[in-house]
Amino acid sequence: MSGEKLQVRNLDLFYGEVQALQNIFFDLGNNEAAALIGPSGCGKSTFIRVINRMNDLIPSCRITGDVILDGENIYGPINVSELRTRVGMVFQKPNPFNMSIFDNVAYGRRMQGMKDKKKLAELVEQSLRKAALWDEVKDRLKKSAQSLSGGQQQRLCIARSISMSPEIILMDEPTSALDPIATGRIEELIGELKRDFSIIIVTHSMNQAARISDRTAFFLLGELIEYAETTKVFTQPRDKRTEDYISGRFG
Ligand SMILES: Nc1ncnc2c1ncn2[C@@H]1O[C@H](COP(=O)(O)OP(=O)(O)OP(=O)(O)O)[C@@H](O)[C@H]1O
Ligand SMILES: [Mg+2]
Repeated sequence: MSGEKLQVRNLDLFYGEVQALQNIFFDLGNNEAAALIGPSGCGKSTFIRVINRMNDLIPSCRITGDVILDGENIYGPINVSELRTRVGMVFQKPNPFNMSIFDNVAYGRRMQGMKDKKKLAELVEQSLRKAALWDEVKDRLKKSAQSLSGGQQQRLCIARSISMSPEIILMDEPTSALDPIATGRIEELIGELKRDFSIIIVTHSMNQAARISDRTAFFLLGELIEYAETTKVFTQPRDKRTEDYISGRFG
């Protein structure tokens, strides 16, 4: 599996005069999970925001190169809100909407015009099941999402993303605000989600990258230093800088 879903070619990204990403080549297969690692400020979040054009919201940001999703350049004349349903995003801090659990998950499809109560209820149940949250919330769907624990809120955000049937889910340090048990649940969940989606996850935990990803990308100062099978990156890194980072000598 390499690159049948996403191909990034020769990507440069600038914030004003400052170059934050340099000559990035990256690809992702169907049903593949890639982990992005590297020290703070190396461009991991910047890079995943390229893939659903979240950087469009930053006026100083300028991008050159190609980002090809299913054969189509997403920086061409495309519908950006449609792109963001195809490429979902889960953030570091769980950010459920201030509404009920049910309404959080139904929100995206309702916005697209889905009104049928039965269809919406099915969608919500399926999405919550896939996010491994259904059993915990099925008796309190009308309750506020704010009444959930942090780990449950994060799974709710994953369910909200799943409800749109995305092709790729981007996760930016999705477990860094969670305790070890909640983290374990999300990691298990990522293993299951891979059956339906491709996943890119940013993490500061080497162990997490090693546990859940097929390939790992090591970023340093805006460059993608090494991108290879996760076992290879952690046991036989090609680049000395990767080795130094994973063995804790810097970063
Ligand atoms: N909106 C912005 N405007 C200007 N510069 C930015 C902006 N966002 C990020 N940067 C800069 O781009 C570089 C990469 O930042 P980014 O947030 O992508 O790093 P990161 O690898 O995700 O770091 P962390 O691990 O701390 O989250 C940094 O030098 C940062 O200061
Ligand atoms: Mg970041």
